Amino acid sequence: MQIVSTVSECRRLIKAWQLTGDRVAFVPTMGNLHDGHIKLVTEAKQQAERVVVSIFVNPTQFGPGEDFDSYPRTEAEDQAKLAAAGADLLFLPAVTDIYAPDAKTTVSVSGLSTIYCGAARPGHFDGVATVVCKLFNIMQPDLALFGRKDFQQLAVIRTMVRDLNIPVDIIGVDTVREASGLAMSSRNGYLSAEEKQIAAQLYQTLCHARDAVLAGQPVADIEQHALSSLQAAGFAPDYFAVCRSQDLAKARAEDTELVLLVAARLGKTRLIDNIVFSR
Ligand code: PAJ
Repeated sequence: MQIVSTVSECRRLIKAWQLTGDRVAFVPTMGNLHDGHIKLVTEAKQQAERVVVSIFVNPTQFGPGEDFDSYPRTEAEDQAKLAAAGADLLFLPAVTDIYAPDAKTTVSVSGLSTIYCGAARPGHFDGVATVVCKLFNIMQPDLALFGRKDFQQLAVIRTMVRDLNIPVDIIGVDTVREASGLAMSSRNGYLSAEEKQIAAQLYQTLCHARDAVLAGQPVADIEQHALSSLQAAGFAPDYFAVCRSQDLAKARAEDTELVLLVAARLGKTRLIDNIVFSR
């Protein structure tokens, strides 16, 4: 696995592969890699001849008082995991390689970026869309893979790519979970042993709510019940919503492709999860 930190070197290597006819798949990450990230790499290897991964803790997607400074940085372990998974290239830029000090351009996907996690974290999805757009322009990959774990992020990126005619195929990959059902996340490391046990109830609550939707119970009751059971378990929920998977609008009776979205704080850790299903 080659490791580069400059934009020009990254571009040169990728362009050379593409000139020989190789397809290049890109997996953007913020590091502290777990099995969820590695699944994206494994899936990428099945879809392209070359796999490029970036590790960049992107300052513009963290709000004031959020965990940018304390976000876990585990470079040596990450490099070993990526080499073992068969990545071809790791792009490790510094903040100054990505952002000019007087940068004036932001990519903003309106509507989708200000609901749910966007309401709780103002500016977050503008930071995500801007950095992903920049990384796409740097790499110019054929395809890019994102986890369904961050369902709203995936929706924002798909919409950006459509609206800006960015020639990159976006592939969504299913969520990797612990045996308890807890979705793997770099932020799970903030949980105490006791909190980690409670955290598994997030997925259980989603599964119960999905079953209630399939049983035809009223959506408002299901959302209310889910919020109260999360509170009773010790969470401070931000939202629990039954949505259409296509555009995250509130599900109506005639919608068949659905997603249940949840975000809740447990102690100082904010957790998100979702389930996608049809009825
Ligand atoms: P990060 O949280 O490091 O996640 C990188 C990718 O891994 C995202 O596409 C995310 O959805 C996926 N992922 C995380 N946990 C997963 C799990 N349990 N199962 C499957 N996939 C999982 O998301 C970001 O970084 C950033 O916002 C980024 C897109 C890199 C832009 O800065």
